[in-house]
Amino acid sequence: MRKPFIAGNWKMNKTAVEAADLASKLKESVGDFKDADILICPPYTSLAAAQEAIKDSVIDLGAQNMHWEGQGAFTGEISSVMLKDVGAKFVIIGHSERRKYFSETNEKVNKKIKAAISAGLLPIVCIGETLEQREKGQEKEVIENQLKEGFDSLSEEDLEKITVAYEPVWAIGTGKTATGQQAEQMHSFIRNWVRENFSDQTAEKIRLLYGGSVKPVNIKELISNENIDGALVGGASLKVQNFTEIIKNSV
Ligand code: PGA
Repeated sequence: MRKPFIAGNWKMNKTAVEAADLASKLKESVGDFKDADILICPPYTSLAAAQEAIKDSVIDLGAQNMHWEGQGAFTGEISSVMLKDVGAKFVIIGHSERRKYFSETNEKVNKKIKAAISAGLLPIVCIGETLEQREKGQEKEVIENQLKEGFDSLSEEDLEKITVAYEPVWAIGTGKTATGQQAEQMHSFIRNWVRENFSDQTAEKIRLLYGGSVKPVNIKELISNENIDGALVGGASLKVQNFTEIIKNSV
């Protein structure tokens, strides 16, 4: 049985003071709830403040991106080593906003996954098709390609450290959620891909999150599906009550 995993992607929101406030209210609100794994991913400049606020709680810390090099002349970038240093345990890699606005390719995603794992970070790898691709019936082809190239030359052991987030681009921040059935179809496709390319055991273990307009009202339907193990939540993770309800409704 895979433990539910609810991750909040705060995107480019919250100053350090605001992040500390939101994180400490969330800490209070979830108390010692241990039936789901809980993660928050604030922006870089708020990681330290959020980390301080969630100390000794059930909440983990993650970042939203990283560079694949450990250090060097890469102006404006942040490395896995720096994220570890600030207390991050997870890192989101390949979010569709990064793919769309910052030219993140499957090849870069692959390099970042390898760098994250070798630094001891746990990657949450985002994949998903655009509306145009879905309308053309290409969603499985797109996902398969993202997996094939993104996971190129990873070992079975690497896969054990990875969480996959299936986020149809047309459902992100739009209020349009994939139905449980649509999401489940893709999740089962992803799990089968892992089974065929790695092993039964890894396929059974790997957690597959759904992302795209997840809210307290739709999490139950989504997570009731066999292959949906949690959610990557954007907008609703910025409200303590909504995020807490999503967490509690996930079990
Ligand atoms: P959303 O974002 O919940 O606001 O749709 C999800 C995401 O981008 O991870």
